[in-house]
Amino acid sequence: MADFILGIESSCDDTSAAVLRDGVLLSNVIASQQVHKDFGGVVPELASRAHEQNIVPVVSQALDKAGIKATDLTAIAFTRGPGLLGSLLVGTSFAKAMGIALNIPIIMVNHLQGHILAGFVDQEGKENRHPKFPYLCLLVSGGNSQIVRVDSPLEYTILGQTIDDAVGEAFDKCSKMMGLGYPGGPVIDRLAKEGDPERFKFAKPQIPGLDYSFSGVKTSLLYFVRDEIAKDPDFIGKNKEDICASFQKTLIDILLSKLIKAAKQTGIKEVTIGGGVSANSGLRARIEAEGKKRGWNTYLPEFKFTTDNAAMIAVAGWFRYKAGERTSLDVAPVSRIADY
Ligand code: KG4
Repeated sequence: MADFILGIESSCDDTSAAVLRDGVLLSNVIASQQVHKDFGGVVPELASRAHEQNIVPVVSQALDKAGIKATDLTAIAFTRGPGLLGSLLVGTSFAKAMGIALNIPIIMVNHLQGHILAGFVDQEGKENRHPKFPYLCLLVSGGNSQIVRVDSPLEYTILGQTIDDAVGEAFDKCSKMMGLGYPGGPVIDRLAKEGDPERFKFAKPQIPGLDYSFSGVKTSLLYFVRDEIAKDPDFIGKNKEDICASFQKTLIDILLSKLIKAAKQTGIKEVTIGGGVSANSGLRARIEAEGKKRGWNTYLPEFKFTTDNAAMIAVAGWFRYKAGERTSLDVAPVSRIADY
């Protein structure tokens, strides 16, 4: 008999539910919250309320699209953390209630592991390429910038991580600084395509080992823009494409320098990316180009699986389900998880 896994994701501002049949994706429904747009960032209280409204229709749609009934489900995988606590509470409580009602197991998933396993979301009728273990994942989102060694779906080692801001934060804050809107990553990505990446130079951090730092480059942009605006108030309007292209290239250079170092140190040539920033077209192109040059096998998740989604949570849960893991009903969500 087939196993049907329902995945539930509610860690930030996307309410999502997905269904897998024996590890193959049948549906992946995402309700993105528009309520935060006017605030230039996610408002935690509003996010929790929106999850509360969205969770029932989103799960129903995921089941309908998969063509199954709730009673067909084998287990429910849900994001336990990290994320916004109020948001996580909605998904966790819903998973528990549904698990009790259906008398099926629930399986907690670390949201970051979901991003790292996004390349394992298999779809019917598509070529499903997977990284081979061990592989390196460049995990880049609004809250994290890490290089993770993955030895199996259950074994992770952080080789390096940011000591201050995440790279997604650098995209978002710089976009806000230039009045370009939120979230900044997609806007900067779009404008960068029309600009000259070599025109402006920004400070790059000198951090030992495999760790990252993005606060210096952000400050470098802030001072640069401030000084230029003092000379010409319309400096941003006239040069935004070149500023975005140069700034984005600096961030990508920083990310790649440590990834290359990690690949050399470990001798691992299987490389993948995950997290919201892995949607960045410049980053994707550079990883592919570096991969060709260095003999890496690179795996880029489809765009729809780069930002928060329940398909990746369902996949991470499916691996854990097969390994015999079950989560107790007294589990509580956690906003921070220091390690894997
Ligand atoms: O993984 P994610 O959806 O949420 C968490 O942080 O968990 O990542 C959101 C981040 C934001 O900082 C957003 O600006 C960034 O991903 N992002 C991008 C792009 N699309 C989303 N950054 C650069 N280029 C993009 N195309």
